[in-house]
Amino acid sequence: MPIPNIIAIDGPAASGKSTLGRRLADSLGYLFFDTGVMYRAVTWGALQRGLEIIDEAAVTNLAETAQIDVRPPSKDDGRACDVLLDGVDITWETRRLDVEANVSPVSAYQGVRQALASQQRRIGLRGRVIMVGRDIGTVVLPEADLKIYLDASVEERARRRYEEILQRGGQADYEQVLAGVRKRDEIDSTRAFSPLRAAEDAVILDSDKLNANEVFTKVEALCR
Ligand code: DC
Repeated sequence: MPIPNIIAIDGPAASGKSTLGRRLADSLGYLFFDTGVMYRAVTWGALQRGLEIIDEAAVTNLAETAQIDVRPPSKDDGRACDVLLDGVDITWETRRLDVEANVSPVSAYQGVRQALASQQRRIGLRGRVIMVGRDIGTVVLPEADLKIYLDASVEERARRRYEEILQRGGQADYEQVLAGVRKRDEIDSTRAFSPLRAAEDAVILDSDKLNANEVFTKVEALCR
């Protein structure tokens, strides 16, 4: 069996999708594309411009007109890729807590999803790609050759997010992080347009029961 040309990895926040995707892309020599950064870039742009996040028309207009670029990392500072909005490097801005708190409502807007998904699809169809998100196997690239749905309990995912923040030198309260992850889960999985769910032909893995190495080994075996 040939190595799958298009690999989709979906799942909830902090389930380990990016860690898996980056390692797999390194191992196969494929492009790693984390689609969440595009929703984060639009959210940051909206906050920066002082738009009301509830103003769907203004936020959608921004998603349709802003130039979002996702490129291989230009700096060795822990980033998986460079994220540019209208030519400005906003890679670390997209990880800010105010972006985190507002990105789910932004990604629920149909016009925002349409604008970003069509760009993602165009890049994905070039092949030799690992695309990570919430709706890659179901909507963006339903023809993907391999679909992985990576899940984990909300407590375990909140614990990982919490430790990530501390490791980056930030401050956090576990209960607050847990509440934030729960809220995003709810918005992401109940929104009307492309809600988070596993594709029917996805391989479902539970990262509560498997560590990052075990997840990688399993998926690599599926690829080769
Ligand atoms: O994976 P992440 O935490 O960077 O994603 C940020 C937000 O973007 C998340 O709330 C869900 C949304 N998202 C989405 O709706 N569809 C995608 N393909 C990727 C992310």
